[in-house]
Amino acid sequence: MAVKKKSSWRSLMVSCFRDQDNINSSKKAKKHDGGEGGITKQKSFLGLSYLDISNPSSTTLSEDLSISLAGSDLHVFTQAELKVITQSFSSSNFLGEGGFGPVHKGFIDDKLRLGLKAQPVAVKLLDLDGLQGHREWLTEVMFLGQLKHPNLVKLIGYCCEEEHRLLVYEFMPRGSLESQLFRRCSLSLPWSTRLKIAYEAAKGLQFLHESEKPVIYRDFKASNILLDSDFTAKLSDFGLAKDGPAGDETHVSTRVMGTQGYAAPEYIMTGHLTAKSDVYSFGVVLLELLTGRRSVDKKRSSREQSLVEWARPMLNNARKIRRIMDPRLEDQYSETGARKAASLAYQCLRYRQKTRPCISTVVSVLEDIIDYKDDIPIGTFTYTVPTKPSIEVKETTSVQNCDKAKNVSKIDQHQKFRSNAHMARNHRLSLRNGLNSPGGERY
Ligand SMILES: Nc1ncnc2c1ncn2[C@@H]1O[C@H](COP(=O)(O)OP(=O)(O)OP(=O)(O)O)[C@@H](O)[C@H]1O
Ligand SMILES: [Mg+2]
Repeated sequence: MAVKKKSSWRSLMVSCFRDQDNINSSKKAKKHDGGEGGITKQKSFLGLSYLDISNPSSTTLSEDLSISLAGSDLHVFTQAELKVITQSFSSSNFLGEGGFGPVHKGFIDDKLRLGLKAQPVAVKLLDLDGLQGHREWLTEVMFLGQLKHPNLVKLIGYCCEEEHRLLVYEFMPRGSLESQLFRRCSLSLPWSTRLKIAYEAAKGLQFLHESEKPVIYRDFKASNILLDSDFTAKLSDFGLAKDGPAGDETHVSTRVMGTQGYAAPEYIMTGHLTAKSDVYSFGVVLLELLTGRRSVDKKRSSREQSLVEWARPMLNNARKIRRIMDPRLEDQYSETGARKAASLAYQCLRYRQKTRPCISTVVSVLEDIIDYKDDIPIGTFTYTVPTKPSIEVKETTSVQNCDKAKNVSKIDQHQKFRSNAHMARNHRLSLRNGLNSPGGERY
């Protein structure tokens, strides 16, 4: 049943405050609430960090959430329902796992709930051993429950039962940009698709930065850009999102969180967060799209491990651009477009945040780059079919052939998912110890 009752956003904040500090913070939250009470699309999220997460099993949290998110059309699912739609979170429905917990595919329709649109969904289950989990879960529900845009992944609902926390999203058939760009058995993403993804992801950021109450996304990276069947890009994972600076403030001060290789240098050094921190991370992803290389690749020589440090000297030099371009593109890109895109990445990656372009400039430059099509050579694409482990066969082939290859590899998928899940669990444990996370090394 979708949440219907309309009530005050503040009620959630106030009811969750426990000590004096937090009561003071609630006053702050009220101030930014505009005194209206009712939920509108762009309410401030200030005060969220003061929510009491020490009592995650609190039933009042669940009730307060439904009241505060009234009008957001989020569905409140029961754990039993989510178990049914994911076939008890079976391994055959397993999609992947990040720092938050495992993600399973499911299907909802009006047999589950009257009025539910029939559609596949992705169900993310919070790993209860996590330290930051409840806070991130709540932040995600609050932000995505209210922000709607074609380039943000749609949150369909959530479950908050006892200590269990789940999120239900629209299903994104092509998974993450990370898997599309770096997975060995995949068609190389064509140039035009890479530009489309960059453009749409930038539009998602633009929506956040230019909202009435600006939002800083803080975790812009290839694994958080999800792709629809037509490669429409949507930002996911708002667990680290923050309200942008208000009034005369130039930045927000926060504990440094994010992913190594993507986070802006001034943010890592000072904890000062601005919209330009997101622009820096965008520059890193743009560079990944151009080069087909990961932001951090420990398997490369020390000089090439950091993508930004390696590529930066070549980005503004027209004669050197070819050296950094992804060989899997097989020269099928517009040289003018590539030059402009490299120059845009260079500007986004500037050390001084004030000299980076704002996201609306990034969007309009990308719009311009997309128009450069005339000098793209026509040819075929190459993909790599894995046969036996460590043996690679290179073939030039069609999409159908790649699908066949995927079917063959599906035989091992169940096993692979299980071992991936195991690895991800280990990753999460090391994450808590400050080591690697699946989407990159975390702060
Ligand atoms: N809405 C969705 N539709 C389809 N697949 C999804 C969806 N959401 C997540 N996934 C898949 O689930 C996996 C885990 O995603 P998740 O966002 O939890 O972790 P991550 O982004 O890989 O790492 P991190 O914890 O650093 O964000 C990824 O492979 C992703 O592609
Ligand atoms: Mg993610």
